[in-house]
Amino acid sequence: MNLKIAPSILSADFARLGEQVSEAIAAGAEWIHVDVMDGHFVPNLTVGPLVVEALKPITAAAGVLLDVHLMIEAPERLIPAFAHAGADLLTVHVETCPHLHRTLHQIKDLGVQAGVTLNPATPLTMLEEVLSEVDLVLLMSVNPGFGGQSYIPASTQRIARLKALLADKGLDKVEIEVDGGVNQKTAAEIVAAGATVLVAGAAIFNSQASVAENLHALRRAALGAAP
Ligand code: DX5
Ligand code: ZN
Repeated sequence: MNLKIAPSILSADFARLGEQVSEAIAAGAEWIHVDVMDGHFVPNLTVGPLVVEALKPITAAAGVLLDVHLMIEAPERLIPAFAHAGADLLTVHVETCPHLHRTLHQIKDLGVQAGVTLNPATPLTMLEEVLSEVDLVLLMSVNPGFGGQSYIPASTQRIARLKALLADKGLDKVEIEVDGGVNQKTAAEIVAAGATVLVAGAAIFNSQASVAENLHALRRAALGAAP
């Protein structure tokens, strides 16, 4: 199956970020996930376009997609800066976009793939009118803001419902990405429900094993193979 693993740099060692991203790519990561937080929409503050720009040569050289998750209010103000910095995919939260259709087209007009995401408490119906406009739907399986949180079990049913909704509209090519608490224990049910992209931070960048060992173990678990 066409499964993509997107290590989230949120849990990486920022003192050697380039090295950690290169390790993940060498281990087979198809995408690299960058979490942008503004301290308003979510209670944490992370990185901006400068970091995307710094990572771009590393991902571009390897043909890896740079996946930028915007957890910020009024994302339309910063979308051009992230596009120029080299984001290949920009994902916005429905909760931050009163003019969601316009924001998605702003992203696409800049030549970037457009993604949309929702918090765990936001109904899937919020997306229904824009599904035909997006390349990806990201389902948050934790409340956004921090790495290392536990997977919310009801997310599995939401993934399955989203998959059915997309199939119903003939939009099976839209990627279903899942973010939060993805690890060796939760990956199999997430993929079985229909996810095509797995974001993983703590499960990849931790000290228990190397980035490569963690990534391979996550992929094996996701594909349901014996450990
Ligand atoms: C959460 C972020 C995630 C986070 C996932 O707000 O959007 O991308 O890094 O971290 P883990 O995989 O540790 O739950
Ligand atoms: Zn994220």
